[in-house]
Amino acid sequence: MDISTTPSSALVSEERLAEILANPGFGLHFTDHMFTVEWTPEAGWHGARIEPYGPLTLDPATAVLHYAQETFEGMKAYRHEDGSIWSFRPEENAARMVRSSHRLAFPVLDVEDFVQAVDALVELDQRWVPEPAGEKSLYLRPFMIATEKFLGVRPSQHVTFMVIASPAGAYFKGGVKPVTLWLTEEYTRAGRGGMGAAKTGGNYASSLVAQQEAIAQGCDQVVFLDAQEGRYVEELGGMNMYFVHDDGTIVTPETGTILEGITRSSIIELAGKLGHQVVERRFSIDEWREGVASGRITEIFACGTAAVVTPVGELRWEGGSVPAPRSDDLTMRIRRALVDIQYGRAEDTFGWMHRIV
Ligand code: PLP
Ligand code: COI
Repeated sequence: MDISTTPSSALVSEERLAEILANPGFGLHFTDHMFTVEWTPEAGWHGARIEPYGPLTLDPATAVLHYAQETFEGMKAYRHEDGSIWSFRPEENAARMVRSSHRLAFPVLDVEDFVQAVDALVELDQRWVPEPAGEKSLYLRPFMIATEKFLGVRPSQHVTFMVIASPAGAYFKGGVKPVTLWLTEEYTRAGRGGMGAAKTGGNYASSLVAQQEAIAQGCDQVVFLDAQEGRYVEELGGMNMYFVHDDGTIVTPETGTILEGITRSSIIELAGKLGHQVVERRFSIDEWREGVASGRITEIFACGTAAVVTPVGELRWEGGSVPAPRSDDLTMRIRRALVDIQYGRAEDTFGWMHRIV
């Protein structure tokens, strides 16, 4: 893919950048540039460019605004101690966007083009990648939207893929501590044949009211159960889940209606290396309740790109609760093993890291 570059003539000052990187928060500040490429049936993908970051002009009838034909990814660029910059399994994000694109009736952007676009933006805006202290990183948000001006319901004949980047500190304020979960009994995230495995805005739109309920109940995050029986644990609004058992095995809900997390599959491999077998199967809410009560479940944790790995504490629902499991030792070991690879402090024996700069 040929990418043309128009550098910004209004770069954020070094002084302001230092201020932002000192305390980036999450998703608040954006780098100097953005990547765009467009698609039509006649021309295919064309017009790949990096331009100054700025607002889009969209016709009010633009399809994505009405029917939510969109898909996105979430990944990070990490600065290592030697100053080099790396991403984590970017081809997995690219491959997941291909799967999401099939589900959303989008054209496919090749894995190589996706990775090239992300690399090109990060390279140009490399001064925005924070120092590794405090687990800071540059959060990357590739996304694809239906940009045809048309109100008929059919796949858009004009599609735009973009990448934007945002420096990020810890996703949860207050550092790594167990998250309290709210079990929603009213709302589900995805049903059979639905979009649960796709990374698409609609899934997040549908999660908001449940997440709002969680916050109102004093919890940090919401847990969704399967839509069919309302018995099996699926995932959190933005994270996959794991249940550590006293015999050392770890259970994680099987794929199908959940997002196939890249952190999820990496942890399955990492845990294996640490001597823990991970079983992918259905896991019921009764097993959760009884497992914590009997001590058979020793730890519960959740993972995702933005949130990394976080211990799970108490689970609450209307009229009931399950206390926090007794430990978080393995959770913190797995967390450490993962971030050490990402920040280049441990040998990358899996070949997961991709050098950008
Ligand atoms: N589940 C949902 C609903 C998510 O939004 C995310 C975050 O991207 C995950 C799981 C974890 O996926 P990954 O590890 O690829 O970030
Ligand atoms: C991620 O972990 O990258 C996510 O996309 C979760 C959330 C910020 C949507």
